[in-house]
Amino acid sequence: MYEFELTNACYKLLHEMFDLKAGESLAITCDTESNMDVVNATAKAAFALGAKPLVLKMPAPGDCGKAGDIDMPIEPLVKAIKGCEAWVEYNNKWIFYSTAYDKIVEDPEDRPRYMNLCGVSPEVMIRNIGKVDNHLLTKFIMAVSDFCEAGRHFVITSPAGMRLECDNEPGRTYVTADGHVRKGEIKMFPGQISWSPNFGSINGTIVVDGTITPPLGAVKDPITFTVENGYVVKIEGAGTDAKRYADWMKSFNDRQMYLVAHGSFGFGPNALLNGDIVEDERVWGCTEWGFGNVGPQLVSDIPGGIPAATHSDGICLNCSVWVDGVQILDEGRVVGPTPEIVEMAHQLGH
Ligand SMILES: [Fe+2]
Repeated sequence: MYEFELTNACYKLLHEMFDLKAGESLAITCDTESNMDVVNATAKAAFALGAKPLVLKMPAPGDCGKAGDIDMPIEPLVKAIKGCEAWVEYNNKWIFYSTAYDKIVEDPEDRPRYMNLCGVSPEVMIRNIGKVDNHLLTKFIMAVSDFCEAGRHFVITSPAGMRLECDNEPGRTYVTADGHVRKGEIKMFPGQISWSPNFGSINGTIVVDGTITPPLGAVKDPITFTVENGYVVKIEGAGTDAKRYADWMKSFNDRQMYLVAHGSFGFGPNALLNGDIVEDERVWGCTEWGFGNVGPQLVSDIPGGIPAATHSDGICLNCSVWVDGVQILDEGRVVGPTPEIVEMAHQLGH
């Protein structure tokens, strides 16, 4: 299905986003749970561009990242991938954050440029890359990201009753998935801006009314998290979802699981809420809040990040956002900070 459109999406990924050149080697990694139509279309597109695709497929490890180390051929993966100029990861049980990954990316001056496309389907590729003006999206996302990073105080509300305030931590860099992967860069799927605020400044409520992964997926009833000085102190909501989530958090017996690890803006022009976190967290105009482990890329000022038992992400739909009193989102619609940014949003279909 969609074999014509998929080839176009994979070609755009390599040509527009990776700027893959003739003669470059491209590692395409996958496992037995990956969609092989996506893998093969990417290899064909690379070959058509004159590059040298190398498909590396392995049995799906029992778990993702370091929890999957025991099942991964670590040294062969490191040697093969590190030798390539570019790396596209389609693994469903991802290599990302595993010991092999750490070794591959340890030297920023000598590593393949990388994009995390873990577990994507043809539909996700076509909606989020094939049908998107990736150059315009990059321009839009960088403009919004730069504005937010230069600001200080955030107020975020939602129609579901959320009201959260937080401050930027001066000097801490934003993690922006703008859609382009330059030399040495590690990029997530396009359409997202993430940052870890000054943790102690995060106060108010987060109301998750989209999905929360792990462990629930789509929520039937909104879950309200009360946050004090960066930590969740209360989890409540109608129905069974809030209690199930609270029980899951408690099961780790780890205070750091209650830390609000990051906020993110979703700016995927065509992203749909479908239960797959990679696409859910990019739904246009949502904010996403992570709980638990803080990855090192989010806290450039804290080497190694802030460990916790695991990490979970909740989606809050149709948010309104003010940065130092300037409104940028109104119930999911881009209304600022400048007319140029609003116009770019229109051109992206919003
Ligand atoms: Fe997260």
